[in-house]
Amino acid sequence: MKLTRRIFLSSSMATAALAAVPIAPDVSHAQGMINITARPSRKRLYRFDSPPSDLWTYNGSAPGPEIRVKQGERVTVRFANELEEPTSIHWHGIRIENAMDGVAGLTQDAVKPGGTFEYDFVAPDAGTYWYHAHNKSWNQVARGLYGALIVLENDPAFDDEHDLTLVIDDWRLDRSGKLDVASLGSLMDWSHGGRLGNWLTVNGLNRPSFALKTGETYRLRLINASNARILEVDPNRFGAKVIAYDGQPLQRPEILNYSPLLIGPAQRVDLQVTPSGEGVVPLEEISGDRPFPLANLQIVAGSGKKAEPRILRSNDIPDPDLTSAMRVRLDMTGGAMGTMGEIVYQGKKLERSDYSKTGQVWAFNGIANLAAEPFFRCAQGETVIVETVNRTAFVHAMHVHGHHFRIIERSGSSVKEDGPWRDTFLVGPDQTTTIAFVADNPGKWLLHCHMLEHAAAGMNTWFDVV
Ligand code: C2O
Ligand code: CU
Repeated sequence: MKLTRRIFLSSSMATAALAAVPIAPDVSHAQGMINITARPSRKRLYRFDSPPSDLWTYNGSAPGPEIRVKQGERVTVRFANELEEPTSIHWHGIRIENAMDGVAGLTQDAVKPGGTFEYDFVAPDAGTYWYHAHNKSWNQVARGLYGALIVLENDPAFDDEHDLTLVIDDWRLDRSGKLDVASLGSLMDWSHGGRLGNWLTVNGLNRPSFALKTGETYRLRLINASNARILEVDPNRFGAKVIAYDGQPLQRPEILNYSPLLIGPAQRVDLQVTPSGEGVVPLEEISGDRPFPLANLQIVAGSGKKAEPRILRSNDIPDPDLTSAMRVRLDMTGGAMGTMGEIVYQGKKLERSDYSKTGQVWAFNGIANLAAEPFFRCAQGETVIVETVNRTAFVHAMHVHGHHFRIIERSGSSVKEDGPWRDTFLVGPDQTTTIAFVADNPGKWLLHCHMLEHAAAGMNTWFDVV
């Protein structure tokens, strides 16, 4: 699963290191109404003297405002669309009420240009989530329509100062350092590994610095907002432990005994770190030939009083009952260099010449994109086991809407029974990954690859909980 990357804009050419300012994200604490407007904005992504890019943003920034709400609290978002194309917002990883899931074409109509929509939901689980456009996501997310959604425990284990969010994005810049808009929608990307970029930012910035006090314990919430890039990091390089995946806490902080840690598109990892000494510790993305510096952890003198971290309380997710489960199988085919097989799209079998016309080159069980009938239908409360067989030449990041699951098997070997809850899993070429969850959330839910080009090009289906 080695990834190659060609960063032609070398990071050393970047803006001379920004001063070590702690990043104070534009935080919207919910309480009453949050206003979010999608609109075009010009932002500089590369050097201070490079031309600005034409982005699409929430409230003028990419990422959009960080939304912080309390667990169980009601969130009301008044959303306005000032873009020239329809859009919607999906609240990724929230076990949300179906009508608020924000999937244009399945749970709501896309919000037209000039239109508004009111999202109103309760976030049942504390943890690290995010929100992003869910209409033509391959285009809209690539242009900057995403932000962090943090659900705080009622009695947070880390105060605001010790709770940092790092939204990481992989942008494709052109030679001038602007967002490469011309290559959006390239069939080459759609049929291969998706839109991979050449420039990584954290909270929209090149290599920002986070000031951490020595001896104090911090929570770093890493969110991968990339269209298709699987990020690779090594928490051991800076003494960090994993405390949560995809929003859901582990029973105890875990020291990884392997490297790298893969963070697929849409996945989140929460780390806990207690820095010692003083100086600058780089946080690096290590999938390339040379590490790419994401951020600097600037370790400064502490107050001396040790913040005693507490164990995160787990959320109340029902455990799957494997003995009485409904079992379904999902065959992934298509793409470059893979098993092509037959592809049915909108009820019609595609000929080879249709691939470029429709852009449909991947299929789940022979069907590209959403069909009238769901992949499966189940009763509310039923345990579902989905065996995902990847017969393609690429790795995929599969996301289940409205539910968290456990991985119960990977290519024939069973895994820890109480493995972490996730909402997105990676499945490598010729690998099989089997997940289980209790379908306790009624409605129509997507199951798709979160490599957004793959989803657009066919890797997208739905299931019905009735
Ligand atoms: Cu991040 Cu269909 O979603
Ligand atoms: Cu994929």
